Amino acid sequence: MAPIILSGSSHPRLAAAIARELGVAPGRCVVDRFPDGESRIELVEDVRGRVVYAVQSTSAPIGEHLLELLLISDACHRAGCASFAAVIPYLGYARQDRRVTGREPLSARVIASQVESAGVERVITVDLHSAASEGCWGIPIEHLSAVSLLAEHVRKAAGTHAIVVAPDLGAMKRAEKLAAQLGLPVAVVRKNRVDGAEVVTSGVLGLESGAAPIIVDDVIATGGTIEAAARALRESGCMQSITVAATHAVLANDAIERLGRLDLSRIVVTDSVPPRQPPPALPTESVSLAPLLAEKIRACAGMPQPSRGEASVSPEAPERGELA
Ligand code: R5P
Repeated sequence: MAPIILSGSSHPRLAAAIARELGVAPGRCVVDRFPDGESRIELVEDVRGRVVYAVQSTSAPIGEHLLELLLISDACHRAGCASFAAVIPYLGYARQDRRVTGREPLSARVIASQVESAGVERVITVDLHSAASEGCWGIPIEHLSAVSLLAEHVRKAAGTHAIVVAPDLGAMKRAEKLAAQLGLPVAVVRKNRVDGAEVVTSGVLGLESGAAPIIVDDVIATGGTIEAAARALRESGCMQSITVAATHAVLANDAIERLGRLDLSRIVVTDSVPPRQPPPALPTESVSLAPLLAEKIRACAGMPQPSRGEASVSPEAPERGELA
């Protein structure tokens, strides 16, 4: 039997797109608030004996979205589901996945244990802050990469003389993967973080004269990292147009305005979090993760591969309330 695809309130549009890819109607679940602000969950769907996948990005408000997911899992288990997996396209609280000063929490571990204790048996996610944070989880993690999708979309921009740029050392593996797919060299920006929104740089290693940079990162949060990398490239003499490719367009605070000041030729992101409306001047392109996530759900759920031209059935989902 086909799995039930439920959605919390964070990204019903992506959940509906995934269901459409799978050729199933989205599962129905009431997700709203009690008058005092508490999350109120009620399954409309009969999930007894069914395999459930719940789609919920931990986009802002992060705590509320996380709690909704835990409550949906609890509701499904109490209603007798056969198994429950969480599809978390953007998994937040992943940056504090190791202790640097010895005075920080291991946030990624705390989140993992909350999710596990609510009965989630498997997580499907995309481009974690670091692959090492998979170690925080005691349940299976299907850690997907959006690099191939991003590569397809920046391929046109990657003319004959382009270079993939890691905006910091942590982004090197991702940059090398993108560069390998595009057959390009890699450069790296020397970056140090001052605080949550500000970073400083001290040069670019490996920059080739005349090459057009493609900066790649996992997440654009405040835009500070991309801004610093673009400025470091300009200060290093780069006059070429700059493309940015990132999986998670969180775009917090004034990130859109910040990016708008950088004269970027192209920003390619995915729909792992609901899109914020960019100003028309910002050349943004969004690539959907729905096919990638649907393919993984299909494999995990043992569904047959779709035959060519197979019809899909699901309607568009509303943003809040009962997610049909
Ligand atoms: C840092 O290690 C991450 O890979 C990103 O570069 C960072 O989280 C982006 O944040 P922001 O846009 O606020 O600089």
